[in-house]
Amino acid sequence: GLPLADAAVVEHTFHVGNLTISRLGHSQVITAVNGQFPGPKLEARDGDTVVVHVVNNSPYNITIHWHGILQRLSGWADGPSMVSQCPIHPGGAAYTYRFNITGQEGTLWWHAHVSFLRATVYGALLIRPGPGKPHYPFPTPHGEATLLFGEWWNASVVDVERQAMLSGGAPNNSIALTVNGMTTGGYELPVRHGETYLLRLINAALNYQLFFKVAGHDFTVVAADACYTEPYDTDVIVLAPGQTVDALMRADASPGHYYMAAQVYQSLANATYTANTTALLWYEQHDVATAEAATAGTSMIVMPTMPAFNDSETAQGFYGSLTGLLPDGKPTVPLHVDTRMLVTYGLGVMPCSPTQTLCNRTRGSVAASMNNVSFQLPTTMSLLEAHMRGNVDGVYTRDFPDRPPLMFNFTSAAAGSNRSVMLTSKGTKVKTLRFNTTVEVVLQNTAILGSENHPLHLHGFNFYVLAQGVGNFDARTAVRSYNLVNPQQRNTVAVPAGGWAVIRFTADNPGVWVMHCHLDAHLPFGLAMAFEVDDGPTPDTILPPPPPDYPQC
Ligand code: C2O
Repeated sequence: GLPLADAAVVEHTFHVGNLTISRLGHSQVITAVNGQFPGPKLEARDGDTVVVHVVNNSPYNITIHWHGILQRLSGWADGPSMVSQCPIHPGGAAYTYRFNITGQEGTLWWHAHVSFLRATVYGALLIRPGPGKPHYPFPTPHGEATLLFGEWWNASVVDVERQAMLSGGAPNNSIALTVNGMTTGGYELPVRHGETYLLRLINAALNYQLFFKVAGHDFTVVAADACYTEPYDTDVIVLAPGQTVDALMRADASPGHYYMAAQVYQSLANATYTANTTALLWYEQHDVATAEAATAGTSMIVMPTMPAFNDSETAQGFYGSLTGLLPDGKPTVPLHVDTRMLVTYGLGVMPCSPTQTLCNRTRGSVAASMNNVSFQLPTTMSLLEAHMRGNVDGVYTRDFPDRPPLMFNFTSAAAGSNRSVMLTSKGTKVKTLRFNTTVEVVLQNTAILGSENHPLHLHGFNFYVLAQGVGNFDARTAVRSYNLVNPQQRNTVAVPAGGWAVIRFTADNPGVWVMHCHLDAHLPFGLAMAFEVDDGPTPDTILPPPPPDYPQC
């Protein structure tokens, strides 16, 4: 191994600009970092300080989010546009993101957090064990590989988003899935027989959950969202947008060529988009026959048998099987809950504004909401800056409801015929939490305008997933299924279509933290809310002031 040094500063410069690349025979101008697609891989160790100077020479407003980084006392570096910062303007404006990695190991990623730009502005963020603790909690693998799954459009993704917002519907489907930016067959992973590889899997796709398999090979999942899990053996891995999985794979098949495949998992009834993509795994001690077959593109390469594109049983089976690895064998779930919330979310409708042209005058326009509030980003300053100023400017209100305005049959599509159930209003509402209090949120997916598995991502915290299920949440029966001993920790939970999940976390990080659907179209539709966490009592629990180059709107 490498000699161990003390915690280091990992410093990078990200030049964001136009890049012309060619995929599927089409040349496309995309927004990219340092002329690379996907962008640079960031590697650090727990305890390191990460410093990234972002210089924006693209035609668009840019922010970068470090997805899953806890950002303890560094909320100014979190990145969601208009939540933690105003965007970095085009024309060479710059902002330096600076944060410490505090007690985190595993696979995370970074991505643009403004409009649809994360479709091309993203990369891996790998955290290895720090100097004090040089080992993984599993046998050291012989090698590792990072696989970033994405989506590709033969179009500007900003135009794709504009079209979706104007139509009030789903965005045009991407035309291909990608692995490390490459379409089918582009990415190759050579392995050596008998060795074990750590696969770092990241779902950077905008709108689709994925199944992942490798023909002839099984996995042991060891982490999800950079939180260690009890080793879990499986031949299929499920990733919602935003989620990551670390899995060990033994190269123990007969030497040859094998396909690795990612395929869309659709939880939406009547969905038709079933794209998949492949990459190639091959043994360095290849036998000549399969190597030649691979070159000739013949069928000697084994394809994995994928689950059906709508196989929710496999998806929920995977999610429900993960448990957390207990540090020192001791449970860490907070058992006392200070604040309990029931948050319903899904698609609803909003009355048309008088000037809105593309709007159904009887029904209204499509709006996504949480507890019937369709989240509206501020325009004059970030929520975090407003928070630091004590909200004297009235940028937000503190009345995000703890419960939905109406209780109804959340999972019945028939409820959607009741307009009062569907009707949402716009608001910039936060839920204020006292420092170090504990919160339990029941996330109830609703099905009144199409039932879909929405992956909810919380910034600034990892949370415990205590339980999940289908149908309407019923506390009397659900409580019995809570795992309070070794639940998995995550930053993104894929709440089952027409179902629920219960999460718990401790509000020990002062600042403003957004929780939103990681299907990218749903964030501008308003499927978001924010937690405002007060400062704590001691100097080391107070959010410091913003850095001097903090962007202004
Ligand atoms: Cu990965 Cu708020 O996002």
